[in-house]
Amino acid sequence: MIAVIPAAGIGQRMGAALPKQYLECAGATLLDHTISALFAESRIQKIYIALQPDDHWFASSRYVGSEKVERVDGGDTRSASVLNALSVALATFSNDVLVAVHDAARPCLPPEVLRKLLDVAYEFPAQGALLAIPVRDTVKYVADTAALNVGNSSSVSSYGQLPIIARTLDRENIWLAQTPQVFRLGDLQRALVLAEQHGVGITDEASAMEARGIQPILVPGSRMVMKVTDPEDLELIEFYLSKLKR
Ligand code: C5P
Repeated sequence: MIAVIPAAGIGQRMGAALPKQYLECAGATLLDHTISALFAESRIQKIYIALQPDDHWFASSRYVGSEKVERVDGGDTRSASVLNALSVALATFSNDVLVAVHDAARPCLPPEVLRKLLDVAYEFPAQGALLAIPVRDTVKYVADTAALNVGNSSSVSSYGQLPIIARTLDRENIWLAQTPQVFRLGDLQRALVLAEQHGVGITDEASAMEARGIQPILVPGSRMVMKVTDPEDLELIEFYLSKLKR
């Protein structure tokens, strides 16, 4: 099997001078931590990293020069980045090979969690599998109008426009998708191409497969697999990474 790491995002929410995957944490960049989690898994033969074509930071990665790691060009969206990587991979690997797509921004991936996910994906290659965690909080679906309703009238609070609840979802059935997400190379490429052609905005691979009528399997992930999004996430990631090394 192979892996793809989409790492061509610019991480605007971090407000940093460089893309978030290059921030240093616990002695390495977030991207190098992410690569090392996949690198250590012997079933993964090759890791494609999708980067902005003008990315000059990757040159300092400890994985430059490794035969197992190949840099490819990313695209304007996450799914375009993944698709570019899949097209490159298809020149070497067959449609039936499994591919694990894993966000660069999830540097903390416990080996036993990855192992379990891959075991399930090998058992059910046509369905595919991804990490996910059940939601703990009560989930509110908000109305399209981002106005704060006071009584019957719409108004803006002293903190600006705030969302209002349209309905409450049944949290028993809600899971939060993480990565890696594992599918057969050919199936995933077709699903992502079709999603793009139909203008379906997707933010993970499973959604593209679902749109083809596939029901991927959810494998319990971990809070440690969190996606680094805000600056305060870095302290938590540093803590999680130190736990992994123990
Ligand atoms: O923006 P978000 O945090 O959802 O990005 C998830 C992953 O997709 C990140 O690892 C990011 O680098 C990657 N990405 C990409 N190409 C883009 C946008 C995001 O590879 N154009």
